[in-house]
Amino acid sequence: MARVPFIAGNWKLNKAPSEAAALAKALKHKLADRGDVTVAVFPTALSIQATLQSIAGSGVGVGIQDISVSPRGAYTGTNSGVMARALGCTYVLVGHSERRLYYGEDEAKVSARIRAGLDAGLLPIVCVGETLAQRRAGQADAVVHDQLAGALVGLNHDEVVKLTLAYEPVWAIGTGETATPAQAQAVHASIRSWLTNAYPAYIPNQMRIQYGGSVKPSNAAELLACPDIDGALVGGASLNAEDFAAIVAAAIA
Ligand code: 13P
Repeated sequence: MARVPFIAGNWKLNKAPSEAAALAKALKHKLADRGDVTVAVFPTALSIQATLQSIAGSGVGVGIQDISVSPRGAYTGTNSGVMARALGCTYVLVGHSERRLYYGEDEAKVSARIRAGLDAGLLPIVCVGETLAQRRAGQADAVVHDQLAGALVGLNHDEVVKLTLAYEPVWAIGTGETATPAQAQAVHASIRSWLTNAYPAYIPNQMRIQYGGSVKPSNAAELLACPDIDGALVGGASLNAEDFAAIVAAAIA
């Protein structure tokens, strides 16, 4: 079953509000003709409002990069999924390797954030991926399967089907090193077959699996041509409107 491609830009800790507004404005213009490709951007929380204002009317979704597991309360320094939704966010990123590495997000925390996101009415993009050492030890598939099992535990079928997955090999993030299309496709196929074993067929057929890790205009087309790669989660190249638009263009059938 053909899935509608989904291209997302993770701006990470870049783009102050004025810069985010300018980038969003450029994207609104450049992405006007994108067929049915789903597009979303993830500014830093402080730039969400500016991004929403500039991108309004374009159909490009906006998401938050992380949420607290609690909608409100005495949790200094965090952001609420309910409040992000109220502001106008559609998506939340969960389990990004930078969150796992720098903020100790283990499977339990990832799972709790998916729950909080869904309860808030946000659509989670759940990131999984192995380190270089794990890949060299031949554990890439097993690591990703364990991350999925831990992340999706407790979700019913209606909830699982709302998720997007992102396979982001840690060794390919921000390094300029990209998984080859064959390497990426192999793990995507293995994720899809894990889903097939765990859920009824409509779930693996419908769920989109993005590839992330040094996606750029020069490699997007060959990655997106793989049968189980349904989109991209783009870091560095999403900070430039021209590059991001070129990646979206590569997804148009
Ligand atoms: P880069 O595209 O900069 O490698 O980042 C990928 C990523 O982490 C997207 O979430």
